[in-house]
Amino acid sequence: MMRVLFVCLGNICRSPTAHGVFQHLVNEAGLAQRIEVDSAGTAAYHIDNSPDPRSTQVAAGRGYDLSPLRARQAIEQDFDEFDYILAMDADNLRNLQNIAPEGYQGHLGLFLAFAGHAGKDVPDPYYGGPEGFDHVLDLVEAASQGLLEHIQQELKA
Ligand code: 4NP
Repeated sequence: MMRVLFVCLGNICRSPTAHGVFQHLVNEAGLAQRIEVDSAGTAAYHIDNSPDPRSTQVAAGRGYDLSPLRARQAIEQDFDEFDYILAMDADNLRNLQNIAPEGYQGHLGLFLAFAGHAGKDVPDPYYGGPEGFDHVLDLVEAASQGLLEHIQQELKA
């Protein structure tokens, strides 16, 4: 079993989008029994909230259902459970690095590295217009495809 955790700030926009898109790809690839997907936020503001309706709506427009997801905060114990912990931006990566236990054996890094964009952030859409949410989805779809291919290679090895 491979476990993947997507992390942003609030766990209501970017990381639930990644959660829903990547879960959809995993299901389509018939790997739901081998890859577990979750998401969390580094901040506590939105614990137990549904994803932002703007994220839910653009995702639904491309066939992804975010409605069952609820926000939670990332905790140190996540490092015991997840093989991949993927941050949406450099700030959140820094926050995760600060709570990561010494000697974490998994992969902690930026999600967009899997779209071939080393060092690039998924921009926070929260305070912007609707086009920001579409842009998040474009980036997330590209990186999810790359991540799935990467993990499939690892599962074969
Ligand atoms: P997310 O977006 O980190 O992609 O879920 C945000 C959600 C909420 C806030 C900021 C970003 N906020 O400040 O409440």
